[in-house]
Amino acid sequence: MHCDGMSLEALAQRYGTPLYVYSAHQIADRLGLFQNAFAGVRHLVCYAVKANSSLAILQLLARRGAGFDIVSGGELERVLAVDRAAAGRVVFSGIGKTAAEMDLALRAEILLFNVESEGELELLAERAAKRKKRPRIALRVNPDVFAETHPYISTGLREHKFGVDIRKARALYRKAGKQLEPAGVSVHIGSQIRAAEPFGAAAQRVANLIGQLRRDGHAIRFMDAGGGLGIEYHGEPTFDAAARAREYAEALIPAAERVGGLTLLLEPGRFLVAQAGVLLARVLYVKKNGTKTFVITDAAMNDLIRPALYQAYHEIVPVKPPRGRRRMTADVVGPVCETGDFFARDRVMAPLKPGELVALLDAGAYGMSLASNYNSRPRAAEVLVEGTRARLIRRRETMEDLLHAERAATRL
Ligand code: LLP
Repeated sequence: MHCDGMSLEALAQRYGTPLYVYSAHQIADRLGLFQNAFAGVRHLVCYAVKANSSLAILQLLARRGAGFDIVSGGELERVLAVDRAAAGRVVFSGIGKTAAEMDLALRAEILLFNVESEGELELLAERAAKRKKRPRIALRVNPDVFAETHPYISTGLREHKFGVDIRKARALYRKAGKQLEPAGVSVHIGSQIRAAEPFGAAAQRVANLIGQLRRDGHAIRFMDAGGGLGIEYHGEPTFDAAARAREYAEALIPAAERVGGLTLLLEPGRFLVAQAGVLLARVLYVKKNGTKTFVITDAAMNDLIRPALYQAYHEIVPVKPPRGRRRMTADVVGPVCETGDFFARDRVMAPLKPGELVALLDAGAYGMSLASNYNSRPRAAEVLVEGTRARLIRRRETMEDLLHAERAATRL
């Protein structure tokens, strides 16, 4: 099994496991698909940094003209570390921006603040006044559109913590006052949404609001449609990423064109990076308890938490093709001391033996970015494959890295 021109077995031997491996070509390709799908309208693809915030990946995207959707000062620091000039292509979402984060973004002169509450509007106006700035803002509105996905990552309903009720938006724009420049409206209805319709429905509601806001005298120029376009985790051979990007664009563009004079901002995360990445793990043990077989790998929920947190499905395949057609039914689990530490349950799969290398597929999004040090496990290394070249883009963490902050405080 290969990632572009590189053998995964060779990479595991060189860099050890658990190891994240990404294809640069695949990420660039996905960005291209997105940019093409929206080529007919003024637009900017603002990659959602949270999906995978690796500096090398941000750099790859920045070089191809992408902007960025950030949700913290930390993510902004990452973008700035890669390309200071990209600040002008940054949109800042999130319901809990602190004064310090606002100051950082004001100083960097980002493109757009996506404001999510009245309190935030007031604080931003105050911080901007201090710095004599007039930042562009969009209100993130809650369109009350339901989209089929896991409840933890659905965001578009009135009872969710995100955004402001679309029915209260006009009053808030009026309150934005002189210190802030109402320049856009933003929306994000959730993540891993595979149908195009809910995006279209949300965009139509936003378009209506933009019409009203313009009549109220606000020069709205940006429609930020958020992210959320889903992929297929079950290895569907018929999955056509270009077609999906096109359907998505076809759902959004009519709404934007109906009001006219807009730049469409898009915040894809998963769609650009998920399928470009695998997590490589080595099988440590295979054991039987009662009727169940457990394959224990050296990767765990701290490396990839999606199965534990969202009951997410990831294909798990042996890196060396299995001999014969025999299958086994097993739970694939990590060494962490929790029953919730699993990658798959009762999975029918090729039989695995200790020492074998397995690849967890479609792990490029929300894998490493959600990794933790639970059980004092150093985080994995990351490699970016560029054709026949593999580049270490994050070295494996050491115990020294883990102890550093405590040692600094306690001298232990
Ligand atoms: N924009 C905003 C405001 C967001 O909150 C998100 C994701 C995105 C864009 C990007 O969404 P995407 O295109 O990647 O679906 N950890 C979860 C996903 C959490 C998504 C959070 N917000 C998972 O592993 O499924």
